[in-house]
Amino acid sequence: MTSVTEALPALKISERLDRIEVSATMAVVAEAEKLRQSGVDVVDLSLGEPHFSTPQHVKDAAIAAINGNFTKYTAIGGILELRDAIISRHTRDFGSAYKRDEVMASVGGKHALFNAVQVLVDHGDEVILPVPYWVSFKDIVRYAGGTCVMLQSDEAAGFRVTADMVAGLVTPRTKLIILNSPGNPSGAVMSPQDLTEVVRLAAERGIWVLSDECYVYLNYSGRSFSIGALNDHRQRIVVVGSLSKTYAMTGWRMGYALAPAPVISAMAKLQSQATSSPPAMVQKAAVAALNGPQDCVADMKKEYIRLRDQILAGLATIPGIKCSRPEGAFYVYPNISGLLGRGGVNTPAEFAKRLLHEAHLATVPGEGFGTHEHVRISYATRQSELDRGIERLRSFVSSL
Ligand SMILES: Cc1ncc(COP(=O)(O)O)c(C=O)c1O
Repeated sequence: MTSVTEALPALKISERLDRIEVSATMAVVAEAEKLRQSGVDVVDLSLGEPHFSTPQHVKDAAIAAINGNFTKYTAIGGILELRDAIISRHTRDFGSAYKRDEVMASVGGKHALFNAVQVLVDHGDEVILPVPYWVSFKDIVRYAGGTCVMLQSDEAAGFRVTADMVAGLVTPRTKLIILNSPGNPSGAVMSPQDLTEVVRLAAERGIWVLSDECYVYLNYSGRSFSIGALNDHRQRIVVVGSLSKTYAMTGWRMGYALAPAPVISAMAKLQSQATSSPPAMVQKAAVAALNGPQDCVADMKKEYIRLRDQILAGLATIPGIKCSRPEGAFYVYPNISGLLGRGGVNTPAEFAKRLLHEAHLATVPGEGFGTHEHVRISYATRQSELDRGIERLRSFVSSL
């Protein structure tokens, strides 16, 4: 008798799936988890999520929604109450002026981003992507059939990206520029002036700008700004936002897009054939988060600034590590080129692997973000964990 396995046909994965990779951050998480399960005490500074709990009033809204049987399908792009809440939060905080047909909710910011790129990018289109980039941008563009044109940011100027740098990469095939400020993994913040100039350049040349604002509320530079407020150029702008980091809601899966009505309508069409709406009770929780008191956001931001200063101070005491000062998000992206070549460690991937296995500290190697001299460290954790992490890093570096 043939076994079930023998009878299975060989799996030919689709060509479009073959274009993408598993996220580099997920790979580290899996390896750290394996170690932890074997009883090792791992300090995990690899995670891209807040260590805070979701605020109580947000949880209460979801529980009330469930108990009130608000548990059915909703409109694809979210209930009106939620779409209004997204618009009015953005208007109050950034001075934008979106209308109801210019907003939709999705299952996380990543989902909104995925929808937007699939709608805008065709086979052969070029997408300008500043390096270092968040891992998923590259794969989402490739999945759509686009080609990423990498823009090397200026590390010495805090990973700065300017309109001149963008202009040097524009070709007749350029369709889209992806911006992410504050950015993952560098924590770099683009100035309102640089952002405005990039948008102006793009609009003049008929290029779309997608601004990933998942960390827009974790901007420590004191210059909170959204390109969504640039009304003169709104016909070329897609803003993607998320409640994940702002309200410590990573597991709830709630994000949104603000864009011209035809783009939103196309994104909703795609979403209607994939996930339908985000979960009904999560939408109610999101309304509570967006319309409710915002001091939880300010409190978390204050704590991240304190943790950022603490990790920068720790890194500054480790010879061979240089770190530019991030002005937002909750990552540092130290340059470890001064350590490569020592102790048989030649790449960030080897560095991070040995750091994990020998010192039990999880970080993410820079290769996944498009650079070859860095590791990403998340400081969204308790102070005591950061202290332990810095000590492990210090003793690993001195062992090289
Ligand atoms: C730059 C950036 N964009 C988008 C996301 C996705 O966030 P979510 O899908 O949880 O809203 C992340 C998550 O790490 C991110 O770092």
